[in-house]
Amino acid sequence: MAASTLSHATPCKLHSSKNGIFSSSQALLPKPTRTHLSRREKNLRITCQATSIPADDRVPDMGKRQLMNLLLLGAISLPTAGMLIPYATFFAPPGSGDAGGGIVAKDALGNDVIAAEWLKTHGPGDRTLTQGLKGDPTYLVVQNDRTLATYGINAVCTHLGCVVPWNAAQNKFICPCHGSQYNNQGRVVRGPAPLSLALAHADVEDGKVVFVPWVETDFRTSDAPWWS
Ligand code: FES
Repeated sequence: MAASTLSHATPCKLHSSKNGIFSSSQALLPKPTRTHLSRREKNLRITCQATSIPADDRVPDMGKRQLMNLLLLGAISLPTAGMLIPYATFFAPPGSGDAGGGIVAKDALGNDVIAAEWLKTHGPGDRTLTQGLKGDPTYLVVQNDRTLATYGINAVCTHLGCVVPWNAAQNKFICPCHGSQYNNQGRVVRGPAPLSLALAHADVEDGKVVFVPWVETDFRTSDAPWWS
């Protein structure tokens, strides 16, 4: 009678009963003995035990988790850096031609200005635009003794920022936007521009013209430089 009741129990129930865990219905069943198990039930019991995986084995250990985190971080950071670096350099000012805090002057074609070559093609009184500090248009001045002046004149109008052309006939810089005028050294002589044109040192280093920030007193007005 006891053997026929045991035949309806599942293999897993058999396994649980071995570990001492019983349901209410199982509690009524007589405890199976080794002699009550058929050959088929023994095989099923073995199968049930083989598929039981302890919970600890299903969670990667800490070392594996850290390795996976590092791999994920690397996979994300490399493409991100690849996008951010060009984005950041786009906003950085061009640094080519930097010479000890100054910058080599560039002509209209973007070539370095060689002082001797410049003086061969630019006569006394000439004021021609070059590229100066921060990319600003800056006049290079040839003096009457056919030497380069030691200062360059920033061509950006101090009123609203138009580029001021040189008028050789009137010996002045005259702004086309609102009529401000500056003398041949860039000192303001007529408004509405409130200030004189900014200055930069024009040095010659290794034969090239180099613009350096002007931080000393403005020799035209004896005032502190408003642009520095
Ligand atoms: S921008 Fe030069 S006078 Fe206004």
